[in-house]
Amino acid sequence: MLQLIKTSDGSHTIKHLELNETYHSTHGAVQESNHIYIEQGLHYFIDRFKAKSINILEIGFGTGLNALLTMLDERTRGIKKTYHTAEAFPLPDGMIKQLNYPEHLPYEGAAQGFMQLHEATWNKEVTLSNDFTIHKIHADVCSLKLEEDFYDLVYFDAFAPRVQPEVWAKSVLTNVIRGMNNKGVIVTYSASGQFKRDLKDLNMQFEEVPGPPGKRVMVRACRLRK
Ligand SMILES: C[S@@+](CC[C@H](N)C(=O)[O-])C[C@H]1O[C@@H](n2cnc3c(N)ncnc32)[C@H](O)[C@@H]1O
Repeated sequence: MLQLIKTSDGSHTIKHLELNETYHSTHGAVQESNHIYIEQGLHYFIDRFKAKSINILEIGFGTGLNALLTMLDERTRGIKKTYHTAEAFPLPDGMIKQLNYPEHLPYEGAAQGFMQLHEATWNKEVTLSNDFTIHKIHADVCSLKLEEDFYDLVYFDAFAPRVQPEVWAKSVLTNVIRGMNNKGVIVTYSASGQFKRDLKDLNMQFEEVPGPPGKRVMVRACRLRK
């Protein structure tokens, strides 16, 4: 069972009642996604590598909020974004239609973009603008075969390791890292001790950076050393 709830910045999130977990922070869904995935992920990567194109992998498409923010991001307009996102349990249409993200984003065309993302056919690459292509993969990330050496940036946005340890398993992380190229960067809201140890074991250089409201730190991990 899923329940729509309002977070502190006014934007919605969804609560998964069996897991007792929300899709985003209750301190502000838009604020959280913007901070972790856009500012500390997308902008960090583009600024650090002066990239003119970027291949992104998201674990957990969910409400499509991270995809929407990435697609509409003004700072990276003109930079070609190829966005692959794995989702095992797509949300029902009735729930998606109630989400209020477009009205919380300062972008013209947010409502249309949100609709296009959700209407994009699963398991197919779909071009939505000159600089944004999405491929929504309806699959369990734990058994997903990823392209190797392909991704620049990974948004690791599964439910928390406490409720979904299998998604954070070292074998899954190993597979994800294999899919990344040698400049690859992972960002996630979780700062779980086991996840950090696994990143270190897998030769990733991780750092804790300030988190969004309500969260002291988040994790960013890079393949390249500084
Ligand atoms: C914390 S929510 C975040 C979703 C999304 N990024 C958003 O902004 O709405 C986690 C998402 O991971 C999905 N998920 C859970 N287990 C999964 C699995 N094994 N493989 C792929 N996706 C999974 C859930 O259905 C949910 O949509």
